[in-house]
Amino acid sequence: MAEIGRIAEVAGYLWEKGWAERNGGNISVNVTGLMTDEEKALPAIGSPIILPEPMTALGGHIFFVTGTGKRMRYICQEPFGNGSLIRISPDGTFFEIIATQPILPTSELPSHLLMHNYLRASGKDNKVVLHTHSTDLIGLTHCKPFLDSEYITRLLWSMIPECRIIVPRGIGIVPYEIPGTLELARATIKQLENHDVVFWEKHGILAVGNDLIECFDAIDILSKSAQIYFSARMAGYESEGMTSGQLDDLVEAFNL
Ligand code: 13P
Ligand code: ZN
Repeated sequence: MAEIGRIAEVAGYLWEKGWAERNGGNISVNVTGLMTDEEKALPAIGSPIILPEPMTALGGHIFFVTGTGKRMRYICQEPFGNGSLIRISPDGTFFEIIATQPILPTSELPSHLLMHNYLRASGKDNKVVLHTHSTDLIGLTHCKPFLDSEYITRLLWSMIPECRIIVPRGIGIVPYEIPGTLELARATIKQLENHDVVFWEKHGILAVGNDLIECFDAIDILSKSAQIYFSARMAGYESEGMTSGQLDDLVEAFNL
């Protein structure tokens, strides 16, 4: 499946970027539409695993998910040795691992599935959830004024025109929650009403979308904006940033 190659490619980028220390970050991709009926009916490996709440919009869907505790640098080399395919039960109450080894999904699975479920239930054909530990963006979330969605969106947009174009719905902010919890998942879902990228305070970044490379690109351009901002501060001046007029012109020019 070409999509698995794409997941390996992005896992490699996350490691090369320095965003994936040890097992930091995780990926889930809805691959249902890429599988034959025979593949979809593969026998389960191991026992069913009950979901924390029913994912009714995901009944029968199949996801590639990175394994908990697995390193992106190894997911890149061997996706099926460090991740697995899971199939959600028809009623959305449990899942089974169907290929290729009994590798337990990421601890952030509640977040990932709740988001996939929410987005599908809202009529969106969302396929990807990508979570990573981008150093510069996490750094921003350690400073109170940056924990304001409007403020941080405006600041990062104004560093380079592409940021406004590639992340048109801006950034949602989720105050600190313990990683892997349903509280974190629920707080994130609220932000997805208005945003495709969310910052988890003092923890990491999450992007949703149809295409894994596009999710990566969104985080990458935000990281670049943060670097432009920080490099100016380190050189002893404050970035001027694009003006409101310049940002508004992009909306018209690119139909945002
Ligand atoms: P997992 O190894 O369980 O995917 O956890 C990594 C992580 O980034 C938790 O937020
Ligand atoms: Zn994390």
